[in-house]
Amino acid sequence: MSSGSAINLLRERARRAADLVAKHEFVRIYTHHDADGISAGAILAKSLLRAGKAFHITFLKGLNEPFEYERGELLVFADMGSGYADLISQVETDVVVLDHHIPNGEIRPKGNIVHVNPHLVGMDGTFELSASGVCYFFANELGRNRDLASLALIGALGDKQKIVGGNEEIFKKGIEAGVVEEKKGVNLPSGKLRDVLVKSLEPYLDFYKKEEELEEFLEKAGLDGDREFDELGEDEIRRLADAVALRLLKMNAYTGIFDQIIGKRIVLKNLLIKNAVMAVDVVNSCGRIGSMSTALAMLLGDVEAMNRAIRIRDEYVVQILEELKKRREEVREGFCIRYLIMENGLSASPVATTLSRYVFTDKPLIVINIKNEHAKVSARTNEALAERVDLAEIMRLAAERVGGRGGGHRVAAGANIAPDKVEEFLKEVDRLCCAMLV
Ligand code: C5P
Repeated sequence: MSSGSAINLLRERARRAADLVAKHEFVRIYTHHDADGISAGAILAKSLLRAGKAFHITFLKGLNEPFEYERGELLVFADMGSGYADLISQVETDVVVLDHHIPNGEIRPKGNIVHVNPHLVGMDGTFELSASGVCYFFANELGRNRDLASLALIGALGDKQKIVGGNEEIFKKGIEAGVVEEKKGVNLPSGKLRDVLVKSLEPYLDFYKKEEELEEFLEKAGLDGDREFDELGEDEIRRLADAVALRLLKMNAYTGIFDQIIGKRIVLKNLLIKNAVMAVDVVNSCGRIGSMSTALAMLLGDVEAMNRAIRIRDEYVVQILEELKKRREEVREGFCIRYLIMENGLSASPVATTLSRYVFTDKPLIVINIKNEHAKVSARTNEALAERVDLAEIMRLAAERVGGRGGGHRVAAGANIAPDKVEEFLKEVDRLCCAMLV
């Protein structure tokens, strides 16, 4: 199906969701705690405020956490719900699901349901449209909300999506509305260049506690580490781009990311943080430490919240860099996977994302964090391997086998299992990966 007709079908569903909102005075929203979920929350908040609707937003790690509602109110799930049809079917009120995860069965609650998901209209929800993108289409059926395109792009970039399909449409609308701009450059966060190179996780350049290497890198590229990254001139950007590309090649990073890092960069003109990479980084960090409301307030325009959010990001990034330095030595190799088991680690998800894209790129990487008698699994691979391996399916099947639950996307999936099942689970994951890779 062409991306144009898929978008029209998505808009039709979004229209029905907006019609359902019109029948309610109060909307209760549950959204995910990551950058995509928080941006989705910001889009919903702005568009509902403009439509004069009362609402309440709660952030959840996932639908394995409990949620509450009252009969008669409209329940909206953003960035979650599609994979948990059984749970949502038990709901006894009207429901809207604005998600991009792979649907798993039909949702049949007792009230009305509108399910808006790119996968249901022939669009790929892994790369072409995120939950905040779905919320953007919904918001634009609710009213004139084209300026929210910049928020939708934070979600897409946070989920490592591409500016194609639905995202490209949002990008174009953002340019038309004058809130998004594309410039030549390198995608790195804001700050003094020396600090930027050390603290960047996307791309991860592996300069943490490697001061001599960093100074050599700057000297060879003829760059001044004290310059503000966002103020670099064209010539400096060109030299930086070449040096970053070379560094990534030497690190053996997944080459598919080069296009995302070098060439073009996105400026979000109507947000407090205009550098898109930095905005994503800050929102993501707030989500990771459980301070979603700080990120939400920042996205809604609160300057004090932005200052707090930047401090959170600076501290969080250092914690992750420490964790990466320590944990990369502990990664083990199976037949068709690499895996890492952490006891009381910081968090499985960022460790899995960074190591799978920049350090261990040849096999899917499964990171397990055992904390409070609970094992949280994050599975990651790159797009090339994901053509053959479907981690969402593998997480679902392997987790179900050991009495847990899993799902997600082909390239990035997760599971929740019992700690005493970790070994059995990993064996099954390895077996399924091998079966898909042959
Ligand atoms: O937690 P993590 O970032 O590793 O999750 C990756 C993806 O897997 C997310 O899209 C998340 O919603 C999904 N997931 C899931 N079921 C779980 C755990 C994660 O669908 N039990």
